[in-house]
Amino acid sequence: MSEPQPIHLSDYRPPAYRVTRTELTFALDPAATRVKARLHLERHPEREPGLPLELDGEQLALKAIAIDGQPLGADEYTLTDSGLTVHRVPETFLLDTEVEIAPKENTALEGLYQSNGMYCTQCEAEGFRRITFYPDRPDVMATFSTTLIGDAASLPVLLSNGNPVERGELPGDRHFVTWEDPHPKPCYLFALVAGDLQKVEDRFTTMSGREVALQIWVEEENLGKTDHAMASLKRAMAWDERTYGREYDLDLFMIVAVNDFNMGAMENKGLNIFNSAAVLTHPHTATDAAFQRVEGIVAHEYFHNWSGNRVTCRDWFQLSLKEGFTVFRDQCFSADTNSAPVKRIEDVSFFRTAQFAEDAGPTAHPVRPDHYIEIGNFYTLTIYEKGAEIVRMLCNLVGWETFRRGSDLYFERFDGRAVTIEDFVGCMSEVSGQDLSRFMLWYSQAGTPEIDAHGEYDYASCEYRLVLRQRTPATPGQAEKQALHIPIRLGLVGTKSGRDLSLTLGGEALGSDAVIHLRETEQEFVFTDVSEAPVPSLLRGFSAPVKLRFPYGREDLAFLLQHDADGFNRWDAGQRLALLALDDLIAAHRNGVEKVMDPRVVEAFRGLLASDPEDKAVLAEMLTLPSEAYIAEQQPLVDVDAIHAARDFVEQSLAVALRDDFLRLYEANRSDVPYAPEPEQIAARSLKNVALSYLMALEDEQAIELSREQFAADHNMTDVRHALTLLVHSSRDDIADPALKAFGEKWAHDPLVMDQWFSIQVTRPQPDVLERVKFLMGHPAFSLKNPNKVRALIGAFAGQNRVNFHRLDGEGYRLLADVVIELNRLNPEIAARLITPLTRWQRFDETRQALMKGELERIRAEELSPNVYEVVEKALA
Ligand code: ARG
Ligand code: ZN
Repeated sequence: MSEPQPIHLSDYRPPAYRVTRTELTFALDPAATRVKARLHLERHPEREPGLPLELDGEQLALKAIAIDGQPLGADEYTLTDSGLTVHRVPETFLLDTEVEIAPKENTALEGLYQSNGMYCTQCEAEGFRRITFYPDRPDVMATFSTTLIGDAASLPVLLSNGNPVERGELPGDRHFVTWEDPHPKPCYLFALVAGDLQKVEDRFTTMSGREVALQIWVEEENLGKTDHAMASLKRAMAWDERTYGREYDLDLFMIVAVNDFNMGAMENKGLNIFNSAAVLTHPHTATDAAFQRVEGIVAHEYFHNWSGNRVTCRDWFQLSLKEGFTVFRDQCFSADTNSAPVKRIEDVSFFRTAQFAEDAGPTAHPVRPDHYIEIGNFYTLTIYEKGAEIVRMLCNLVGWETFRRGSDLYFERFDGRAVTIEDFVGCMSEVSGQDLSRFMLWYSQAGTPEIDAHGEYDYASCEYRLVLRQRTPATPGQAEKQALHIPIRLGLVGTKSGRDLSLTLGGEALGSDAVIHLRETEQEFVFTDVSEAPVPSLLRGFSAPVKLRFPYGREDLAFLLQHDADGFNRWDAGQRLALLALDDLIAAHRNGVEKVMDPRVVEAFRGLLASDPEDKAVLAEMLTLPSEAYIAEQQPLVDVDAIHAARDFVEQSLAVALRDDFLRLYEANRSDVPYAPEPEQIAARSLKNVALSYLMALEDEQAIELSREQFAADHNMTDVRHALTLLVHSSRDDIADPALKAFGEKWAHDPLVMDQWFSIQVTRPQPDVLERVKFLMGHPAFSLKNPNKVRALIGAFAGQNRVNFHRLDGEGYRLLADVVIELNRLNPEIAARLITPLTRWQRFDETRQALMKGELERIRAEELSPNVYEVVEKALA
């Protein structure tokens, strides 16, 4: 087998022929679906005449082909594994093809497949080529007409993009519906759904007064779980009108929930297809976090209608053009709808853990990569989340109002077109008059910039000198890095007053909270008229996606934790303080020395617990210790056992010292009011549950009783799941086992709850957990073919159960590799993603490195999909 070859951004050329209109007819059948395609083609004006027509196509059985009504002879075209070439074609012509495909054999979940008996599609990025022969690239935009034919009894609902224009009966108890989508679109936005579905319907009146029908299609048993998604959709539609002036552009907007889905959801024009986990909620089956996730994803996919669909990407190297911008949009929406500081804290703590790790590993890539083997591997935290951080920096650089004008210009100028990141940034530069050429390096340079900062206060001159040095570590294929333009928001907090001091830089008064611009490798900033010695509060709100080091003493951090005017940095000061203490404890554990808790951390927490919180949700975040994964990120070499032991020790010490405070906090935030996914309730629940976690660190009778009670009260899934997790992760199997059993039996019929049941068990710290993972893989509710199950069981074990996955006998690694090898055949996209924890081998001790590499090599010896091949090659390079 020949090795898969990379494709390069620098090789981009417009297509030789473009499609202006696409007419599709599907005769649906599980083993033999017939797809007829009529494509209206014309030569691209920028390409030379006489070129062959090249179409993508995979796993298609060609049954007929004709140009302008004339069937082609066998010597007039060439068929390969990856497509079809017609040697000679006119300048303008009609191409008719008919192919046969087998949706029920499709376990990759790309193209047309079946999920729980219903038909659905996933075409982004390159799934449409598994449906019909086509120029499967985003810069080919056509209007679509789609006719679906199916069995009337088993497939009563037939959906596609746009509006239904015709329907009728057919012989043989079949029926058809024809859909017309008037908006030209690339084929990755094509979708169809067919099945026995029920709908929940609502309406939205747009700002110009048009009525839009909103439909959520689900299987009958899920009819009671759509309220939150529908409410979220309406909020998102109104928000996009208010915030970006963007109105919806069809009469109908549909969401469909499917059980088998590789990702969260997909923004197909007028017909968004969702992983059921990203749309269905009910107080008894979904946690607060799940409710918030659904809200964010519904909004994300809806926002794509403009940032992605009306204006799309020229090629897949520009993926972050739509994803980075749209994630930024959904983050702002969620911030406006919930607690804004908590939203930022959650996003940043996830980003600093997972994206930083990606950017430091062997699969690190720029936000706009310049080559790839398999685009399916590039739906990453870098493209999405780092892309969103770049857009956020742009917005902060030019200011919201100018950013909005830039966004208006972008949507107006490029409506209906497929464009590049330069086009987007160009609009921002045009409206702001700013030169953003150095800023563009953020898109081309991989790796997390590191900033070393130090500062000095001069009492005599009342000057504060801040020196910043930046450096971006080498990443694969990029040894040398240039200095980036890094906006750093900061304040100087007076040590006497505890207040933000006013900032004067180069004679200019900047107020008390300002942005300074680091553009060189090293720069000095001298603040004058600083009336008292300050502690600097740097990178407020995480104003740039960088690692910033400053030699804070623990007193400084305790001070910032109390006084920083920026809520985000107040939280971060607490995290930094805890990390310093954890560092000592990790060292103590490694050296076999007795662990001693830093009293300053205890006092800081006591202070937090005594304060009257203005925002309970923020307080809950402040009381939460950095995760094992984030602690690991800070260590030069990861010692999983020491990190686990140190974190446990801090948790227990805090619980011992502050037991009564936690108990009071728990009691004060209990409530019997009916569940609602509202910010205030969510905040109280998280605070209560954080308190319960600390209490359970003691595992005394009272804590166990509280957890038991909370579980048994069965008030809502957030509380039930939290209590069950604490019990299952405790040493009290006598209590945990019956609870787990009861829960599993009660929810055996609900796949989304069973996913949670799997995850709770396989993240427990007890050493027998690997055996349990293997056992659960044989559970009737588990299936390797369902990505949610794989994530809930295998993904949660490998990604969240650090002590057990990294077992020194290598059994955790072996288990993961076995699953990857099996999934490589079934679902390459999921298989490739699952490898991630093994790709981080460089971060561990030699023994573990050898074991992890051994498993990667074992995978490499298999016959691999391009997806898995690319990841394994990079990991072992
Ligand atoms: N565009 C979709 C979203 O952001 C994700 C599609 C991912 N598809 C894939 N094959 N990886 O919501
Ligand atoms: Zn997206």
